[in-house]
Amino acid sequence: MFAQPVWLLYLFTAFIIAVSANGNRYQANWKSLDARPLPTWYDESKFGIFVHWGVFSVPAFGSEWFWWHWQGQNPPDPKCVAYMIENYPPGFTYPEFAPEFHAQFFDPDKWADIFEASGAKYVVLTSKHHEGFTTWPSSYSWNWNSVDDGPHRDLVGDLAEAVRNRSLHYGLYNSLYEWFNPLYLADKKNNFTTQDFVLKKLLPELTDLVLRYKPELIWSDGDWEAPDTYWNSTEFLAWLYNDSPVKDVVVTNDRWGAGCYCKHGGYYNCADKYSPGELPGHKWEKCQSVDTQSWGYRKNIQLSELMDLPSIIQDLVQTVAMGGNYLLNVGPTSDGMIPTVFEERLRDVGGWLAVNGEAIYASKPWRVQTENATVPVWYTSNSKESSVFAVFFTKPHGYTFKLYEPVTTDTTVVTLLGNSGPLRWSPLQPAGLVILLPEIEFSSGQAWTLKLDWVK
Ligand SMILES: *[C@@H]1O[C@H](CO)[C@@H](O)[C@H](O)[C@H]1NC(C)=O
Ligand SMILES: *[C@@H]1O[C@H](CO)[C@@H](O)[C@H](O)[C@H]1NC(C)=O
Ligand SMILES: *[C@@H]1O[C@H](CO)[C@@H](O)[C@H](O)[C@H]1NC(C)=O
Ligand SMILES: *[C@@H]1O[C@H](CO)[C@@H](O)[C@H](O)[C@H]1NC(C)=O
Repeated sequence: MFAQPVWLLYLFTAFIIAVSANGNRYQANWKSLDARPLPTWYDESKFGIFVHWGVFSVPAFGSEWFWWHWQGQNPPDPKCVAYMIENYPPGFTYPEFAPEFHAQFFDPDKWADIFEASGAKYVVLTSKHHEGFTTWPSSYSWNWNSVDDGPHRDLVGDLAEAVRNRSLHYGLYNSLYEWFNPLYLADKKNNFTTQDFVLKKLLPELTDLVLRYKPELIWSDGDWEAPDTYWNSTEFLAWLYNDSPVKDVVVTNDRWGAGCYCKHGGYYNCADKYSPGELPGHKWEKCQSVDTQSWGYRKNIQLSELMDLPSIIQDLVQTVAMGGNYLLNVGPTSDGMIPTVFEERLRDVGGWLAVNGEAIYASKPWRVQTENATVPVWYTSNSKESSVFAVFFTKPHGYTFKLYEPVTTDTTVVTLLGNSGPLRWSPLQPAGLVILLPEIEFSSGQAWTLKLDWVK
């Protein structure tokens, strides 16, 4: 009578200890890693800046894929071949661009001022693109990094300080593969049955990157040629989430091996510039570039190829309404300047957010994402769901504005962000309301927000 309950108690205690030990540590498999809750700062931030900067900013022709288009793919891109013939001596090699990466005007405080003024809450810089050049002094990338060559400066570290000083979160982009790394090419030739590149270069370097700069976001890329088992992605992520100095704050994306994206990892990017057609069940991020043709700076940029402010704001609002974050990219020059046209776009996004940010930051998707009301509107709600925001991009013709989805209550209050005082409204049958608009002021982003308190 006595012995049995004690015996059971021991068993139960052992069971609890085993469960909590497992529960606290992530295992190197997707089931365990995918169950990790995303640190909350990320979803609340909504808007970040992506920066593509590297040796590719020197030729600055076509895109940051210049080296591959010139000498990797078969056949090469004739435009890139012609560009080299016309502008460089015969036999000029890609690594010879590195000494021309001067970054002499790089002022991290000025960059961070622009990013802060844009209203972004996080910044993601390329620490290494597919060319393999690291923008920090990696000892695993000897003589192919920004301290041994080019600017002779730790670009990752210098920007980290300035960005963090403005209380923005700091993330790093890292390409898993390197187009022309001999270790990688040998593994590839072996159908990825060997892992020399991963074990001797990638993992030690990526671990060092995390220990040195403590990034709060790792934007992984260049994964698609090999499975995650080749990259040892789950082992790396288990270390990152269990034992790294950023284990409690770090956020990652989904590019960790062929077939991973949209399926495994932290938040989902899926394809570049991807937008889902309906509200997804998983946190996601849309990456987009002000220059629609390139992520890196290119000298042959055309004004008509840039996103204008209204299209950026629409993309941001629609992304956030669908539960996504918006990561907007600019490509600085090899001199270290953010081209003024990009700076202007970023500052103007900040101007719009200063008035309408309540509809964006820390918002949640609403019951309905969009409807064709008097004009099309996109909805978000605040985290307590006591307010719903309806953002519209077309100036209505008259002064009455109908919304059909919100269900009003006795306490409903309607305002137009940036305009003082509540607006008059009356309910519609069977649901919805008609609002009497004030004179709508000019908005350089061509987007206005109606705030509805206490609707259902
Ligand atoms: C930013 O730098 C200034 C000047 O060095 C310092 O006073 C301030 O505390 C820093 N702010 C943060 C958030 O690190
Ligand atoms: C790699 O796979 C290809 C195609 O399946 C095969 O022809 C080749 O022999 C393989 N190479 C090695 C080193 O296993
Ligand atoms: C890579 O993965 C293999 C297989 O899971 C594991 O045995 C090895 O320890 C891992 N290496 C590193 C450095 O993570
Ligand atoms: C609104 O109208 C446009 C154009 O007819 C249509 O493409 C879109 O699907 C409609 N949106 C909704 C939410 O009904």
